[in-house]
Amino acid sequence: MEAPDALLERWLGDVVATPGLTALRDPAEARRVLLDDALRGVPLVTAVEGPVVDVGSGGGTPGIPLAASLPEREVTLLEAERRKCRFLERWTYELPNLRVLWGRAEEQPLEQYGVAVAKALAEPVVAAEWCLPLVGLGGRVVLWVGPSAEPDRVARAAERVGGDIVESPTGFLVLAKNGPTPAGFPRRPGIAKKRPLA
Ligand SMILES: C[S@@+](CC[C@H](N)C(=O)[O-])C[C@H]1O[C@@H](n2cnc3c(N)ncnc32)[C@H](O)[C@@H]1O
Repeated sequence: MEAPDALLERWLGDVVATPGLTALRDPAEARRVLLDDALRGVPLVTAVEGPVVDVGSGGGTPGIPLAASLPEREVTLLEAERRKCRFLERWTYELPNLRVLWGRAEEQPLEQYGVAVAKALAEPVVAAEWCLPLVGLGGRVVLWVGPSAEPDRVARAAERVGGDIVESPTGFLVLAKNGPTPAGFPRRPGIAKKRPLA
């Protein structure tokens, strides 16, 4: 079987070469953003048990690097655009622990996963609202965030959906699911962006 590093090299090349998956064209920059940055999440995912969902996976990051690095964990790539799902489905033939789900976060069954990860899905307040209902009690949400993220605002939003912020390395906000998903969540598609929780 092909080594995980070699598979990830092929995946990275395909993401950059396939129109509509990433705006990154410089190979070094693409590697840094799509692959190396995704792999920084491995210890945050292994800290919690259970299946993993990558929400808004796009061309497959961070889910494909995580699935290749953690073959014992089931990783689902949840993506709203059918065209992107067709690209992602090709990689399920190569990674037996990988699944692809075409759909929106707000329309999924509640609390099916141990960990939800999201990178560049939406602004962090919205990503927190979409991701927390997907994980069960004791689960975690791992958000890749930039320097403009507002942890206090995200904490206020997370509280409304049964979560709170725990210690997070630079570049991440990690949320713990410490209560059930309250009635009324997830809200209908479009509402989280129109009326953010905080
Ligand atoms: C900016 S892209 C980021 C893709 C990838 N995570 C990355 O870092 O390159 C955001 C992706 O999230 C998907 N998306 C947006 N809202 C979503 C939702 N509510 N549920 C599932 N996917 C969603 C979009 O279709 C898009 O592919």
